[in-house]
Amino acid sequence: MLQVDNITKNFGGITAVADVSFAINKGEVVSLIGPNGAGKTTCFNLITGFYRPTAGRVQFEGTDITAFDPHRVARLGVVRTFQKTNVLPRLNVFENVLAARHLHGETSILRAFFPGKAVRVREKRVRDEAADLIETLGLLARIDTPAESLSCGELRLLEVAVALSAGPRLLMLDEPAAGLNTQEAERLADILKQLVGTRVDALLLVEHNMSLVMSVSHRVVVLNFGRKLMEGSPEQVRNSAEVIEAYLGKPVE
Ligand SMILES: Nc1ncnc2c1ncn2[C@@H]1O[C@H](COP(=O)(O)OP(=O)(O)OP(=O)(O)O)[C@@H](O)[C@H]1O
Ligand SMILES: [Mg+2]
Repeated sequence: MLQVDNITKNFGGITAVADVSFAINKGEVVSLIGPNGAGKTTCFNLITGFYRPTAGRVQFEGTDITAFDPHRVARLGVVRTFQKTNVLPRLNVFENVLAARHLHGETSILRAFFPGKAVRVREKRVRDEAADLIETLGLLARIDTPAESLSCGELRLLEVAVALSAGPRLLMLDEPAAGLNTQEAERLADILKQLVGTRVDALLLVEHNMSLVMSVSHRVVVLNFGRKLMEGSPEQVRNSAEVIEAYLGKPVE
């Protein structure tokens, strides 16, 4: 589905991403891991058109999207979340999902809140789909709760719902488990596993929570100082001395 070839991004003198290549197949959950500053979020920005690579190419289903702007990339079905939240704090869970849907959908946000007769039938469908999505994420009991009153775990789930409401083929999540406790992270893992093959075709995850990464990923790509250090199964990555060293530093002799 996604083919990333030798992407590089320089910011002045800093090389944030250096010659990184990887691919994602339909049905896969791939995780991008690495220490702070390794270039993970920059990769997301390069894939989704927020940054233009200094060199290299990104293809989605055979289309070269390297020079596409973020809206075009999203319209093709590649949708990402941000490390910082993209939900609207005063709106409740339902309104957030609906608003996101209308940002990407066929009708205006005004009509969602002030519908005229002609659009009511279509609105009903859109609303049913939003409720269905909220149920998938396990947030039905919180549907009327303002986003600002959600727990950290619920907020992360809402962010996933907001991204899903755009109907992505490839969903890209930047640290969806940040700030979650063990129980919440396990719940998120269960939900993410369910999404692939039902709501999305593939998932690309940036995540520091290693138990989540190990439990959901088919494949893991490890970045260090902007370069790809290794790629392999969760098992291979977990047992790699190089990866352990990248995270913990060189063992003392
Ligand atoms: N817009 C920018 N301008 C200048 N430098 C940047 C910019 N964006 C990222 N960088 C630098 O590029 C490097 C990689 O940053 P990036 O945010 O991609 O790391 P990350 O792997 O997502 O880290 P974290 O785990 O902390 O989120 C860092 O040195 C960062 O300071
Ligand atoms: Mg980041």
